[in-house]
Amino acid sequence: MASVGQMVGQPPAATHAEIEHRVDVLLRQMTLEEKVGQLMQYTSATPQTLEQVRQGKVGSLFNVTGAENTNAAQRIAIERTRLKIPLLFGYDVIHGYRTIFPVPIATASSFDSSLIEQIERVAAREATAAGVKWTFAPMVDITRDPRWGRMVEGAGEDPYLGSVVAAARVRGFQAGAVADSQSLIACAKHFAAYGAVEGGRDYNTAEVPERLLREVYLPPFRAAVGAGVATMMTGLQDVNGIPSTANSQLLSILRQEWGFPGLVVSDYDAVQQLIAHGIAANDQQAALKALTAGVDMDMADGTYLSLLSLSPGQLPIRVLDEAVRRVLRLKFEAGLFEHPYTDAGKENSSELTNENVKLARRAAQESMILLKNQNNLLPLDKSVKTVAVLGPLADDKADQLGSWAAQGRAEDAITPLQGIKLKLPQAQVLYAKGVDIPSFEKQPPSQIAGAPAPVTATGVGQASAAGGPADISEALQMARKADVTIIFLGELAEMTGEASSRASLSFPGRQEELLQQVVATGKPVVLVIESGRPLDIRWANDHVAAIIQAWYPGVQAGNAITDVIFGDTSPSARLPMSWPRSVGQIPIYYNHDSTGRPISPDRWHTGYIDESSSPLFPFGYGLTYTTFRYSGLRVLTPSVAPTAELRVQAEIENVGQRSGTEVVQLYIHDRVAPTSRPVRELKGFERVTFKAGEKKTVVFTVNANALGSYDAHMRWVIPPGTYDVWIAPNSAEGIAGTFEVLSSASGPVHDNDAGLRPHP
Ligand code: BGC
Repeated sequence: MASVGQMVGQPPAATHAEIEHRVDVLLRQMTLEEKVGQLMQYTSATPQTLEQVRQGKVGSLFNVTGAENTNAAQRIAIERTRLKIPLLFGYDVIHGYRTIFPVPIATASSFDSSLIEQIERVAAREATAAGVKWTFAPMVDITRDPRWGRMVEGAGEDPYLGSVVAAARVRGFQAGAVADSQSLIACAKHFAAYGAVEGGRDYNTAEVPERLLREVYLPPFRAAVGAGVATMMTGLQDVNGIPSTANSQLLSILRQEWGFPGLVVSDYDAVQQLIAHGIAANDQQAALKALTAGVDMDMADGTYLSLLSLSPGQLPIRVLDEAVRRVLRLKFEAGLFEHPYTDAGKENSSELTNENVKLARRAAQESMILLKNQNNLLPLDKSVKTVAVLGPLADDKADQLGSWAAQGRAEDAITPLQGIKLKLPQAQVLYAKGVDIPSFEKQPPSQIAGAPAPVTATGVGQASAAGGPADISEALQMARKADVTIIFLGELAEMTGEASSRASLSFPGRQEELLQQVVATGKPVVLVIESGRPLDIRWANDHVAAIIQAWYPGVQAGNAITDVIFGDTSPSARLPMSWPRSVGQIPIYYNHDSTGRPISPDRWHTGYIDESSSPLFPFGYGLTYTTFRYSGLRVLTPSVAPTAELRVQAEIENVGQRSGTEVVQLYIHDRVAPTSRPVRELKGFERVTFKAGEKKTVVFTVNANALGSYDAHMRWVIPPGTYDVWIAPNSAEGIAGTFEVLSSASGPVHDNDAGLRPHP
């Protein structure tokens, strides 16, 4: 079997054989308790967990950070246990360790895999200097549902973009070899289809037919494996009736089909929760189900300890040994036996360096999406005399970081207000919050199934208070005095991420009311939205001249936002999801299958009678400060053999007055196939920078295998016939052509790998 080290290009064969030998030797010396111990992962260095470490009963700790703490716990494992097996320290390094970068959905919006790779390199350097060797990232779950709070941690709705981003993050974290002292072991999660939870409710059931699973939800995981990801995490959801942590069918895709040699860890308490899911009666059954399905390490709940109480006949010792081997192999490959400790002297000097902060600023600049810019209100002129900076997020440090900000500190963040003051030292900058954002009180589930949810004073799912001490009238006075108003609205970071699903996409509290009154002053208004999901901005889109989706931009939020607003950099990010008009449209995604009644002059077509069926903004959409003209689409390979490549090009010209970066996108559509195909599928993109007036030819090359699909029997086919192709600025526009795929003399190519392989 290939080793993880091999997958990432290291160590060389001799070292691999040596590692296997060392694993064997060690395994032979281990008692059953020590073996099970290696499969146990606990959170935090409490006296209890450290005592377990001393007894040789722990393989990994997580949420223990800092060189001093990790070294202290490691010393117990190395100096006070019989076999001196080092601990592996895990942590959720989701968008930076101390230097907090924009949230993952934001950096995915950059469509810039090299930037993403650089970000994760920095995160890896900072985290490893603090003793952390394993991150529970990237989250590569595709989602079509912005109600799901964890959309903020992913790369949106598209399997191709998701695959490119997944591979880039893995490359960035692991940097080729987990043995490198500055590389962080990556963990693609949550295998699989977590983003498909019904109703967007976190931890819920996902019903995903196999074709959808394989074409939409699995590709980013496959791309992570292709990039050499060393570990995977299962999820808390059930998939087609079987919790993912005991889903042997799913895990056999990973192990058998893809040959994944690495370690699989459960999600937090997920083994124990097999009981609540109702597929195990007790800890022993839960542990057995997870272990035999292919979950090597048990996160947090300690349930694998019950394996020790099974009779010899009940315990599948070969399965257990294989799981232990994966843990030991990873520790050997990561060099932990040779270098179990972290150099405490390096920790502080690695964090928040000038270079890291500079990258955070660039990442934030590249992650903001310009959604609207009526009459070119943006960029604003720096000679403006009076600016009103309004809104509850304008001077809020903690929320600039976004959810899951690891060791990020609020004090490190530059707020938008600070950024504007720094950018405009001569201007008068007036500030008022206007309203507060009230927190939500999550409703407890009803005790009796089917009983109505308890209604509290605040109402089910409503904000707990209608605004706070902040004062709308003060904000209006500021707006009236100013030449222009920049208003920062959105969600608190805690409203996004895990266990933060929402039933509404509105601005929480009285924020929209504030916006309406500010707009009513008649002064020009720029709306900057900070949120972890697309919000319902129909009113704003109808009435506000300029709108930027900034997500949570990280430590350099204020500087980067101001760079974009005042034109020191041009916006270049694109939507990684379709932006719904209203919550009732969900799920809405661009790559939906063709329907029998797509359009008609009357009502008898797919859609709603009270709402458009198009999104407010399509996937791939985003404006710049200039204008690009697309022309001259040429299919260089009008007939493509199933084993060959499609090549297609177009001329893109910057016809505006400023330089700009365009994300040029390639879409295809198979006109006749065994199954209904998506109306469009993204197959490539390029970020290209143009000077004013510059024209370039952009050429795409796509392996024909990537044009294929699954037939009704789940065979991968590349259907012959006519395909549409677009080179486009987003999923709803573009210039079109066609090409033919020839029938294959030797039959279809039954391998979807090339189709999923990310962009170089
Ligand atoms: C989350 C995972 C995370 C883990 C460890 C869980 O609740 O679902 O994504 O990695 O906790 O913190």
